[in-house]
This record gives sequence, structure tokens and C-alpha cells, in this order.
Amino acid sequence: MIFVLQVRGSPALIVTMLVAPVLLLLLVPFPPSSGAQLPNQGQAKDLPIATNGQPFPWDRMRLPKTISPLHYDLTIHPNLTTLDFTGVARIELDVHEDTSIIILHAKQMQISNVLLLAPEGIRPLHVLEYPHFHQLALLSDSVLTKGRKYEVQLEFAANLSDSYHGFYKSSYRTSSGEVRVMASTQFEATFARAAFPCFDEPAFKANFTIRIIREPRHIAISNMPKVKTVELPGGLLEDHFDTTIKMSTYLVAYIVSDFLSVIDKTTHSIPISVYAVPEKINQTAYALDAAVKLLDFYDNYYDIPYQLPKHDLAAIPDFQAGAMENWGLSTYRETGLLFDPDRSSASDKLGITKVIAHELAHQWFGNLVTMEWWNDLWLKEGFAKFMEYISLDISYPELHVDDFFLGKCFDAMEVDSLSSSHPVSTPVENPMQIQEMFDDVSYDKGACILNMLRDFLTPEAFEIGIIQYLKRYSYQNTVSSHLWESLTNVSDVCKPGSTQHCDGSDDELDVRAIMDTWTLQEGFPLVTVEVRGREVRLSQERYLKTDDPSLTEGFLWQIPLTYMTSTSNTIQRFLLKTKTDILYLPEEVDWVKFNVDMSGYYMVHYAGEGWNSIIRLLQHNHTALSGNDRANLIHNVFQLVSIGKVRLDTALELSLYLSRETEIMAVTQGFGELVPLYKLMEKRDMAALENQMKGYIVDLFRGLIDRQEWTDSGSVSERVLRSYLLLFACVRNYAPCVTKATQLFNKWKDSDGTLSLPVDITMAVFVIGARTPEGWDFLFEKYRHSMQMSVKSRMKTAMTVTSLQDKLTWCVHLASYGEVMKTQDLPGVVVSVSKNPHGYKLAWDFLRANWHTLIKKFDLGSSTISHMVTQVTNQYSTREMLDEVRSFFGSLTEETGSEMRCIQQTYETIEDNIRWMDTNLPLLQAWLNKRSHKVAHEDL
Ligand code: BES
Ligand code: ZN
Repeated sequence: MIFVLQVRGSPALIVTMLVAPVLLLLLVPFPPSSGAQLPNQGQAKDLPIATNGQPFPWDRMRLPKTISPLHYDLTIHPNLTTLDFTGVARIELDVHEDTSIIILHAKQMQISNVLLLAPEGIRPLHVLEYPHFHQLALLSDSVLTKGRKYEVQLEFAANLSDSYHGFYKSSYRTSSGEVRVMASTQFEATFARAAFPCFDEPAFKANFTIRIIREPRHIAISNMPKVKTVELPGGLLEDHFDTTIKMSTYLVAYIVSDFLSVIDKTTHSIPISVYAVPEKINQTAYALDAAVKLLDFYDNYYDIPYQLPKHDLAAIPDFQAGAMENWGLSTYRETGLLFDPDRSSASDKLGITKVIAHELAHQWFGNLVTMEWWNDLWLKEGFAKFMEYISLDISYPELHVDDFFLGKCFDAMEVDSLSSSHPVSTPVENPMQIQEMFDDVSYDKGACILNMLRDFLTPEAFEIGIIQYLKRYSYQNTVSSHLWESLTNVSDVCKPGSTQHCDGSDDELDVRAIMDTWTLQEGFPLVTVEVRGREVRLSQERYLKTDDPSLTEGFLWQIPLTYMTSTSNTIQRFLLKTKTDILYLPEEVDWVKFNVDMSGYYMVHYAGEGWNSIIRLLQHNHTALSGNDRANLIHNVFQLVSIGKVRLDTALELSLYLSRETEIMAVTQGFGELVPLYKLMEKRDMAALENQMKGYIVDLFRGLIDRQEWTDSGSVSERVLRSYLLLFACVRNYAPCVTKATQLFNKWKDSDGTLSLPVDITMAVFVIGARTPEGWDFLFEKYRHSMQMSVKSRMKTAMTVTSLQDKLTWCVHLASYGEVMKTQDLPGVVVSVSKNPHGYKLAWDFLRANWHTLIKKFDLGSSTISHMVTQVTNQYSTREMLDEVRSFFGSLTEETGSEMRCIQQTYETIEDNIRWMDTNLPLLQAWLNKRSHKVAHEDL
């Protein structure tokens, strides 16, 4: 795959940096991809015509329910030299209605020798192909009758994919420079059909018996343990794997590689192995230990034993997503699994533990109990995201994941506050729409509304409910209401005698009625609270960043409110079901804080004197509230500025208390609200105000930055905070930080990289080092040869933060070419360069010039593509840039992504930025001026 680097007005700017053969390739413009997925509305517009010109007998994207698969016998033979594969699939069918047509999926493969194995004998079947829907029709000249057993057998052949899905090729380089090739699978959501013919929908569960043919120099692994290996004529080997339990096609997996493995056992005697390329096998110990611990945790928590006889975790050198939960064989990016105790950071440890916790949670939520269709993807993704926090909280108390959960709710709210958002459960039909479901709404909002429900029902009732759900629906498929039923049955909340206060009635709690308001309508409520004496007036409306107020009408949620007051830190509860309501406090109070610890998915506006009393509290006694409450207030007040409910001055006044803040979420949320303000200005010509704003933030956190030790000491949160603060300080040129980092970088360079720096400070040190051409080159040399994934990842980031334009161009080139820097890292590099004031134009030009190649490689609608689109453009705040963005995305066709949600999100975000700047720039200027006067005055 070839990417072009076209820099504004000068397509050949980087030419001088390139070696000759690469150069030629780069200058050849390439045609738009023909392999991109075709979005479609689920039903063919005209009568579908098969590839041979005959009518295709099925006109829907979803398969008919007349036939379902019971068992697949698969033999797969990948050839890692010719980079293709052949196979045979024998599928046992269950006929539910008499029919002579079998419709199933197959994508981009040659099909041959298709036979029907009927009780009365073997007959060939006529095959029609309809590539538009990735479908095959197998036509029989006699009727297949209901209740009788049939099998079909198909032979198939295809190339190993050059993308990251289906049965795809991956490669890596050994330290001696040898390139080794392997093959791995990624089938979720709709790519099993690109590896073998199948009924590729999650509700068509079946058993799979898999055989893999390989050369003796490789090994093969799959969902189940190997039962035997048979030698074939010609020296090839055929591994036979045990038959799986009933499962969906998207969970099937197999890998052919030269991996090594390490092994251990859970206390429930399940063997766990971690696989990696031979030279990285010494970085697998942490993952092995974590997987053992977490599988044991889930075994106990769910009260259902892990269902397969083993679990393998494999680190794949080329991997698009973060990880994948294939049953019995979860797969990971190398950075998501490999840990080096001496070189990996506290946040690497947190990340790896969370990813493993996520994929193992799926072994029950998703694999054992599966959503009926992708519209309810959140049932597994929201749950797995949520379980990352539940499992780590108990199994890894020292990681303090609780400190980070609300960050997920902030992320979700960002997309959910746009009119382009969608309900958690959303109808989807075509593969692009299905891909788009893997977003912050399914994952983060899903997790946040589950957390809200757990807090409301009590953790004990919640746990009993989900165990009941898993037991009742094992090996089956579900819709959201099945979960609500299971949770209603166990819940005593609001029943007579319960201590929970609901709405004053003694009605049985209707979990479904509450939760439908969170899953079937998009967005989230803004609750306005006004305290008058003992009376608290409440009202709810949709929080929406838009000019058009009519869009907020018609929304109503059942909101499990929580609050505490200046006179009582006991959590009070109230289920707000109506648009307005009134609460009565036992006495008058100085302040109220709603949404305690942000366990609810809503925003709060404190009307009247509300915000002022909160600002006073934060100024004088901020520890009266928890760190999460403080983070929540910072988030809410700034978000209310965006919709004109609060003046910017008020939010900035509140931010002043941050000079005394030390808790990670409150500090990072402070940065999260303040930094984007100058990031917008960096992309416009307004250096004076930009520098004033930068100065304000540095001042605010100066005390905390000065107190940071340049070591690895402290808790995980302290360590994560330290790397964050030192990186910020160095990037912002805070002199004490820059001096220290420069000294350390020089020492490290003088030692030829052998000096071991404290891990938490390396990011800051590398970023400073990458500022000079020599420093950058040295870092690059070390990057090239490093085998430590987390070190490499920090070096890569540092290389994209430099202000040296030619180096930025080189980075993008390297990641496009995929040799030294893997193409899987290209989206991350482009995004990082786009945040760089010296690189944002390069990133945007690259995205436009390579759009067709990017969507072919990373797939339309994938979160990789959406993330790149939104991140590259979300700091634009001028009408000119909006026009430029509109003109590019407006020129796309349905086939090249014009229907993608991320494009609407991009437009809305830029429009919101423009509005924000128009309204608030003068206020910001005035406030900063006033403050610098005041500070100057105080200094005198
Ligand atoms: N099931 C997903 C993997 C996936 C993502 C498949 C997108 C198809 C499309 C997996 O369980 C997952 O959610 N992975 C996350 C990492 C996780 C720690 C949140 C990912 O890849 O981002
Ligand atoms: Zn997941």
C-alpha cells in the first residue's frame, strides 16, 4: 500500500530525505480504492443481479432465518511464502423451513466445488455470488426439508489480507534484520466472511472444528487446544483443534507464526499462555500474571466457570485496534500486552491490566452471552469497559482505577453533546454502520450508565442481577431488555421497606423504564439546580451544543440524582422523572453538590448564587469535596460556558483554586478544559493572547510542577500525574523543567542510551531532546533498534512533538511506508502531528491526499478512521477552515465515506469552536488582563 505525502504547494518537499526506490513510489499518485466497503441501506434498490448476470434470489443484507449453521468443519491452509490461503468448509445445517436456497456470507474469495451432502446422497450445488452484500446463494435442484440434517461443503481460496482484518498477514523484523511473516485473524465485526464462507451474524452460533495446515517451522494456535498433529505428504503438518462450544463467527481465531509462549495455571486449573515474537517473550511475565489473576476474578465474580479448557493471549506485531476477545485466544497490540518492569511506565501497567481485564470480561459478556445484533453492541462493549474498573478495583487496589473512571464519562459526553450523536442502542445494517458502533457512546456512555445503575441499585443487587442474566442466557443472544428484566427481578430498591428514596411511591422499581430513557434516546440531561432557602428547584433539559434550541425539545430522562450539602456529607438520593420538581432540605445550607463523585451520567448547572458558593468553597476548603467531585465541577462549569449558561469569567474564577489542587483527575480535568483554549489559538494568528493563556496555566500549576521529584516514586496516580506535569512543563518551556530535561537528555545521549532514566520522566526528557536535529536523529536511531514497545512508543510521540518541520514530514512518511515505523501506528502519528502547531497543516493535507488509501487500509467507519478525522480537525475555529473541511468531506461519495458520522461530528465541533471564540475571546482577554494587573500589583 502506498501513501503520498503532498505538502501544500510543494508535493516533493520531502524528496531530498528519501532513498531513491522509495521516492519513485511516493510520487506516483494512486487511484481511489476499489475495495472499500459499500455502505448500503440493507435492501438492494433494484433486484440484485449476481456476478454471472442471473438474478440473485435474496435482496437483503441480513441473512434469511430459514437455515442456520450447527457445526463448521474448517480446514485452512495459509501459505506464508505466496501470502495466500486455501480451505475447505463443511457446514452442518439446521433447516427451519423448506427451501432450495441457502444464503450465506463470503467476501473476496474464490469459491469452488460446492456440494450438498444430503441424506439421499451428495449433489453439486449451483453458486451465485452477490459481492455487494458479501453473499453467496447455493441453489439446490431439490428441496431441503425442515428438520432433516444437511451439510454443505465449499472449497475456497483468497489472498492473505493486506489490511488488519479477515485472515491477514503480519510481519516483524528480528534484531539481526531478518523479516519474518505470520498470519493472524481479526473477524469482528464482519470479517469472518473474508476468511471462510459462513453465516456471519452474531446470532448464528455454531460449533467449530478447526484444522490448520502449516510448515514445521511454524506453530498454529486457535480458540481450542490442539488435540493432534498429522504429518501430510510433502512435509506439511496439519494441527487438529478440539471442537468449540457454541459461538458466533466473529469470535473464531487462528494464528500461524513462530511465536514462543509462557504458561501458568489459574486456581481453577485453567492453563493460561502468553504468546509473542521470540525476542519479546521476556516481556510477557506481567501479562501472564495479570491474566491468571483476572480470569480467577471473573470466575468468582460471575459465579460461572470459564467455559473453555484454556486461554491464550497473543501479542500481534500488526494490529489495528487495541485488542480482541476471541474465545480462548485473545489478541493484542504488542504495546497492549508486553511489559518490561524496568522500562514500562505506571500508565503502561494500568493500560495493560485494563486491556486484559476488558478482553477477559468479554469471555462471559459477549462470548457466552452475545447481543442478538450489532445495534446492541453496547451490551458487551459497555459492559467490558465497565468491568475493567470493577475487576481492577478489587484485584488491583494499588492501581486506584477509581481515580480514572469519570474520565470515561467526560469522553462520552463530548460526542453525546452533539446533535450527530446516537442512542446507545441504534439500528444498524451495513458493515460501515456496524463499525461505527465501536465508539465512545457504546463503550464509555455504556459503561457510565451501567455505573449509574449499579450505584442506584446497590453493588450487591447489581451483581446478583448480572449473574442471573449471564446464567439465564448462556450460549444465547440477547437484547437490552433482557438485561433490564434480570436486574428488575433482584432489585429491592424502592420496594416497600427499602431505605432508598425513589419518587415517593411504593411501586416496584421499573429498571427498564429508567434505563430505556438512557439507551433509546441520544444525549444526556443538564439538571439545573436552584436553592432558595430549604427549597431546591430542579429542572432537566438536554445538554446540546447547538444554535438551534428546538433540537433540545422532547427529551426526558429518569435521572437517579445524588447530592450532598454543606451540612451533611451523607449521600441523598432522588429519582427525577419529570421535567421539573422540588426537593426540600431539612435545613438551610451554604452549598449543595449534585452528582456525587460523578456516579451519574448528567451535568449540573447551579443557578442563582449556586456557582458562586461553590467557587467560595473551592477557594477556602476544596477538600470538603472529593477529587472526583472537584473534577466534575471543573468539567461542568466549563461545559456550561460552551452553551452560554455560565459566563467564561465564572469558569475562570473557579479554575483559580487549581493552584492548590493535587488530585490527578481534578488536575488533568483542569488541563483538559484550559489547554484546548490555547490549542485553538495556536491554529490562528493570535500569539499574544495565546501566550498569556499559556502563562496563566503554567502559573496555576507551577507549585505542583516544582514539587515533582524526577524519580519513579509514589503511587500509580502520583506517577501518572508526574509524567503528565513534567511533559506539560517542558512542552510549555517552563525553564526549570527544560534545563533539567536537557541535562538528562545529554547525559543519556553521552551514554549512548545505556543510562537508565527514571521511566516517568522519559517522555519529558525525550521531548526536549527531539527539539534539535541531532537530538531527534539520536532518538530515531534508538527507536529503530529498540525492542521495548513502551519505550518505542514514547520515542515515537516525542519525535512527533518537535517543531522541526522536516522531521515531522519524515515521521509521517516513515509510518506510511511501514518499514521502520509500522503502518498500524500511522493514525496515531498523524493525530499527534496534527496537534503540533508546526504540523497541523501537514496532517490535514496528508489526510486529504491519502484518504482513499487510508479507508482501504483501516476500513470505512472504523474507529481508527473516525478518530483521525475528528482529531485532526477538532482544533479548527475559523470559518475558512470549516469551509475547507466541508469542501473536502463534501466531495466524498457514499462509497468513500460521505455518510460517516465522524464527518458530522467534525462540522459540529468546528462550528462550536467558532461560536466559542466569537463569544468568549474578548472576555478571556479582559479576564487575563485583569488578572495580570492584579498579580503585578500583588508582586509590588
Ligand atoms: N471487541 C473489541 C475489538 C474490536 C474493536 C473489534 C473494534 C472490532 C472493532 C475489543 O474487545 C475492544 O473493545 N478493544 C478495545 C480495547 C479495550 C481495552 C477498550 C480496542 O481495541 O480499542
Ligand atoms: Zn471490547
